[in-house]
Amino acid sequence: MKNENIKIAPSILSADFSKMGEEVALMESCGADFIHCDVMDGVFVPNITFGIKMVADIRKHTKLPLDCHLMIVNPEKYVEKFAKAGADYITVHYEACKEKTAEVLKLISSCGVKCGVVINPDTDARAIKDVIALCDMVLIMSVFPGFGGQSFIKEALDSVRYVKKVVDGIDKDVLVEIDGGINFETVKLAKAAGANVIVAGNTVFSSADKALAIKRLREE
Ligand code: DX5
Ligand code: ZN
Repeated sequence: MKNENIKIAPSILSADFSKMGEEVALMESCGADFIHCDVMDGVFVPNITFGIKMVADIRKHTKLPLDCHLMIVNPEKYVEKFAKAGADYITVHYEACKEKTAEVLKLISSCGVKCGVVINPDTDARAIKDVIALCDMVLIMSVFPGFGGQSFIKEALDSVRYVKKVVDGIDKDVLVEIDGGINFETVKLAKAAGANVIVAGNTVFSSADKALAIKRLREE
């Protein structure tokens, strides 16, 4: 029986960029709930991926919500353009926004799309306590951002538990997303800690049977 409470968001960072439209359509046909789009600027993280045009182009190939994870400095300069390109969720790093975080989250919401804050594995989750109520989603990194295929950092589970407790205490549906190093073992730890949106890149795209991989991540 499909567990409706758990959403699976394949990360297209692990997809074949030369045929991205096909890859996202494939993810939709394989039962994914979101498409996780890792936007990297080579400044906030030591890697460069894709930007606004990629989001606009894949928008034409799927009806699934586009979950845009912005690993960029000064995200406030670009959120309106990502919203116009078709993003459904835009998440920004607390480490990039610091004291501007609340302002940036409100700006994203004012663009008519869902907003979220992201924290790295070594950021104390209490730092975002006061902005969680502004969010539609909180993303906890279980790897340091920049690359797919890294190993899961267990300490991130403490942040998942903390955020889940805060979310359960407020009168608003806020999704708790985890990202990085998710496989068929670490997904069990993430769900037990309270995560209900699971990002997975390598585990899904390296699987011969991608539909089965998504089903296993959701149900195991
Ligand atoms: C890393 C990205 C992740 C990454 C996850 O900076 O934010 O979304 O693509 O990939 P896996 O699941 O392979 O760790
Ligand atoms: Zn990501």
